[in-house]
Amino acid sequence: MTTVASRPSATVKPASTFLPYRPESAAAARRLVRDKLIEWGMDNLADDAQVIVSELATNAAKTGRQRRMCVTIRRHTPHTVRIAVRDGSRTLPVLIQSEDEDAESGRGLSLVNRLTHGRWGATPEPLGKTTWAELPT
Ligand SMILES: Nc1ncnc2c1ncn2[C@@H]1O[C@H](COP(=O)(O)OP(=O)(O)OP(=O)(O)O)[C@@H](O)[C@H]1O
Ligand SMILES: [Mg+2]
Repeated sequence: MTTVASRPSATVKPASTFLPYRPESAAAARRLVRDKLIEWGMDNLADDAQVIVSELATNAAKTGRQRRMCVTIRRHTPHTVRIAVRDGSRTLPVLIQSEDEDAESGRGLSLVNRLTHGRWGATPEPLGKTTWAELPT
């Protein structure tokens, strides 16, 4: 008989990090997401998840706020992982759907939209908002 040990709940705790509003923060956000997915045995999601968090953190960095953005990855449901970036701007993101493949901007959220099959959004908060995206596990 094979027994499968259940993982201790500590291993599925969300992970968060506070990062400055700078373009370099995207690299730190990618590392957080990759390390957590490997720890959770979800290496197969790491490539898409890193692209997603990179786009969200880069967008947050452009808001140029004073304090820090917060990047979180969590096992949102038993079947989904949610990546979230909270920033201090109350302006909500806008999906730009363009036919122009050579456009130099407006591609980030379109990529997030494609990778998540539309499962992303933004939740307004008193001092900013959280932009989030989900991947099925
Ligand atoms: N965190 C955010 N806060 C405020 N506005 C945002 C945020 N993220 C996105 N937006 C708005 O949504 C638009 C679309 O974002 P998107 O990431 O698709 O394009 P971009 O950042 O302008 O260009 P690219 O990602 O191709 O470099 C942005 O131009 C911006 O106006
Ligand atoms: Mg962008």
